[in-house]
Amino acid sequence: MKKITLQILTNMKRAGERIAVATCYDASFAAILEESGVEVLLVGDSLGMVFQGLDSTLPVSLDEIIYHTACVARGRHHALLVSDLPFMSYATPERALESAGRVLKEGGAQMVKLEGGSTQLDTVRRLTDHGIPVCAHLGLLPQSIHKVGGYRVQGRDPASAAAIREDALALEQAGAQLLVLECVPASLAREVTASLTIPVIGIGAGSGCDGQVQVLYDLLGISIGKVPSFAHNFLHGCDSVSEAVARYVAAVKAGTFPSSEQSFS
Ligand code: KIV
Repeated sequence: MKKITLQILTNMKRAGERIAVATCYDASFAAILEESGVEVLLVGDSLGMVFQGLDSTLPVSLDEIIYHTACVARGRHHALLVSDLPFMSYATPERALESAGRVLKEGGAQMVKLEGGSTQLDTVRRLTDHGIPVCAHLGLLPQSIHKVGGYRVQGRDPASAAAIREDALALEQAGAQLLVLECVPASLAREVTASLTIPVIGIGAGSGCDGQVQVLYDLLGISIGKVPSFAHNFLHGCDSVSEAVARYVAAVKAGTFPSSEQSFS
């Protein structure tokens, strides 16, 4: 199988072929996910909630991200491996460089993801200047949950929609090579996706993005606590995890997931 690169993902966007992304925290699932057609594995700090049983992503440490990234790296062969920079590990561009360097060197990640818009432009420039690919993340930012006040849809009013549009362009100009858009109205996500040359991966952002990402435990229906309304249990009615993941990938590729019920207006 061909190794997935950022260039391949950009070509997929140009060709209109949707990209399937899932979070992953260990070697066994890494092997199953890529065998079933997932192109990008994300070691998300969601591991704090679904793996560690925490009520937010904030306590997840850099060492824990590196540990899980190294586990995933051992099971992966061709999917692109992206890891989250955890809360406060990129509070300054210098700190981000040190943290991201460790995630690549010690964990084996090929790209790091960080949350935020205009405040992160210097950091994105600093990382990419040092050869570290960056995936940006806009919309609902779980690491800012105490500021935002809840896990709710972002970009519904004209001012915050405009900020998301502007931040997306600025992040691309600063060097980000992938963008995750979380919990925004489908029409806004479609607009942002069309305005960028880099691939936009949605979660709770409608079917108009270049690809979709889901938290692995949500798509298998094994998450504890409240499951987001934009998630779907693909394991239901399947005989195996591989079959469930293949169904997820097929639904992303066909543009049938997310449906309008799993999207926001
Ligand atoms: O931490 C995570 O899993 C994420 C995805 C939900 C995009 O950031």
